[in-house]
Amino acid sequence: MDGKLVVLTCGGGNGAHCLAGLSAMRPKIESRVLTLYSDEAERWAVELDSGLLITVRNDDGSKSLIKTKPSMVTKDPQNAVPGANYIFFVVPAFAHAQYFEAIAPYIEDNTVIVGLPSHAGFEFECADLLGEKANACTIVAFESLPFVCRLIEFGKNVEILGFKDTLGASTLKGKRCNVTQSVLELPQYIFGDRPKVRRVQNYITTILMAKFIVHPSLMYGKWSQWDGRPLSEKPLFYQGIDKRQAELLSGVSDECVATAKAIEKMVPGLDMSDVIHVFDWYLNYYGDQISDKSNLMTAMRTNKAYDGLDHPMKEIEPGKYVPDFTYRYLSEDVPMGIVPMKGIAELAGVSTPYLDEVITWCQSKLNKEFLVGNKLTGKDLKDTRAPQKYDYKLEDLFSGNLNSFRY
Ligand code: NAI
Repeated sequence: MDGKLVVLTCGGGNGAHCLAGLSAMRPKIESRVLTLYSDEAERWAVELDSGLLITVRNDDGSKSLIKTKPSMVTKDPQNAVPGANYIFFVVPAFAHAQYFEAIAPYIEDNTVIVGLPSHAGFEFECADLLGEKANACTIVAFESLPFVCRLIEFGKNVEILGFKDTLGASTLKGKRCNVTQSVLELPQYIFGDRPKVRRVQNYITTILMAKFIVHPSLMYGKWSQWDGRPLSEKPLFYQGIDKRQAELLSGVSDECVATAKAIEKMVPGLDMSDVIHVFDWYLNYYGDQISDKSNLMTAMRTNKAYDGLDHPMKEIEPGKYVPDFTYRYLSEDVPMGIVPMKGIAELAGVSTPYLDEVITWCQSKLNKEFLVGNKLTGKDLKDTRAPQKYDYKLEDLFSGNLNSFRY
């Protein structure tokens, strides 16, 4: 990389602390933070001079400490955005729109906008809210966060519990964007050795291969026949998967693969082979950590990476738990996950009985209406990032640059 680059991190949570801190420790980066939520900017700015401590848990159980210091934390986009070369969105997907609206007046040509993670429909939202300005940008969509992390003390101390080995990212370049360098080099420079950033074929692949099918499918499988009585302990989320849940998840995954294959036939020259079945994905990504690879259910039940992870539950009185349907497994992974997936399948003419069944139950828990029968015509489609919300047709999604989007 030539010269010093300005990296702006949007957000003030676990991931934002890590990214802003890791960026700040790289000599060729000026690291800024924009956080719009509540009084986060003021609270973090007070701590800025003392620096940020990142504790990294290594694979062998030891810990490394990184002392670092972003150069600016603000809630004012007018201070943060001008001059930014890369703008990372490191917030839950429901907060993306707010950040797009805040940066829109100040964003400069040739900015790289990065969803870390992007969640489904990030590109649609970007084009919709930045308008013509999106044409002069490149959008990078990461499939997840590079690490598992949690804040220990706001503005002061954050912990990275583990890094992924590889992380997929797709890119979409606006027709007026003149960025010539490889836009995945900078994120790799910030992450360091791990994870290795892997370019994914196209942004629709990133949506169809994403793992947000797991949470809604497992929630539906677990709780749709629940009798409403509180449980005395929290059930395991992944390792507690039963046959029915595995069958549902596998069915949804089959529909994603079928959608990718249908699109490949409809769009000449397009390679969607990165969209693979969720069972194959588990074997590829967690191979060493799975002790029984017989089928999807056993692979998830015996995946060490999932040790101790339980269902999102609310304790209604001491020792009595009920499922928390407001948690991001539904509130994020349905409108910015499986609903856009369904939308793409619908545009490709692929029928999705499993996905429809899961969405129908999830939307009732969210008190929303996205799907009516098997069509995305519900009154709350505006709260999702399905292509139908923006009136896109299949051909609009694949022209290779942003100008195909409606402005
Ligand atoms: P987080 O839960 O720490 O995010 C909280 C932050 O979001 C707040 O500090 C605030 O800046 C912002 N926020 C919260 N409510 C808001 C509101 N009403 N309006 C505007 N902003 C609001 O998120 P985290 O953990 O950093 O995760 C970011 C994304 O990465 C999420 O999509 C998460 O699902 C995903 N992810 C997180 C992992 C982790 O280990 N933390 C691992 C894998 C994915």
